[in-house]
Amino acid sequence: MVIYKTKDYADMSHKAANILAAQIVLKPNSVLGLATGSTPEGLYERLITLNKQGEIDFANITTFNLDEYIGLPPEHDQSYRYFMQTKLFDHVNVNLDNTHVPNGMETNEVLACQGYEDLIAQAGGIDLQLLGMGPNGHIGFNEPDDAFATDTHAAMLTESTIQANKRFFASEADVPRSAYTMGIRTIMRAKKIVMVVSGIGKAVIVKQAFFGPVTPHVPASILQLHPDVVLVADEEALSLCNV
Ligand code: GLP
Repeated sequence: MVIYKTKDYADMSHKAANILAAQIVLKPNSVLGLATGSTPEGLYERLITLNKQGEIDFANITTFNLDEYIGLPPEHDQSYRYFMQTKLFDHVNVNLDNTHVPNGMETNEVLACQGYEDLIAQAGGIDLQLLGMGPNGHIGFNEPDDAFATDTHAAMLTESTIQANKRFFASEADVPRSAYTMGIRTIMRAKKIVMVVSGIGKAVIVKQAFFGPVTPHVPASILQLHPDVVLVADEEALSLCNV
């Protein structure tokens, strides 16, 4: 694992964007796994700038997002499809047909989940997976549990995730209780993983995830077993780690 310690959020966003940009330059038809949450927003802004400057070309890029709330239509302003459209896709020259987010309106779980795995396989697998991390160590919506969930599945959100994510909704009652998410195996199959983490609020979980035991109670800890992980984290997030 490579750890880049950055000064602050802006620096983290810049450095992580450089890694994604290098991936796009080196392999213009890359398959990118993308993430939502507030952490990657600065990184996406930087990718938009690089695209507008002609430094990176999304024309042949394919994307797969980690997750989507079940029951939210794509036009709902808290759906992850909407997030991706407004924060990235609408501003770069990506072919929307090549952008994928699990279908939160699909009521047939098998179609939603196996269908997503099949699409990833048909695209040749994920070259680079971008990840954020929830305050409880979740990646995508793989919540702390007694076992690692494997493939794309429907997951119940934990109470702590509902609490963490309610800031985006009008009220706590509006937060969906479940989501389709790539599983741990889906994520671990990515050739390269880049995780972005920022802020003092993540300091405890960063230490547990990257320097504690590998356990499904801290889902991100599984990343310690991946052969090519880059953690881009700011000083606050790394303040409890000796790096
Ligand atoms: C959500 C997403 C995760 C994301 C996490 C952290 O629950 N499902 O993929 O990593 O939130 O979000 P933030 O970056 O806002 O802390």
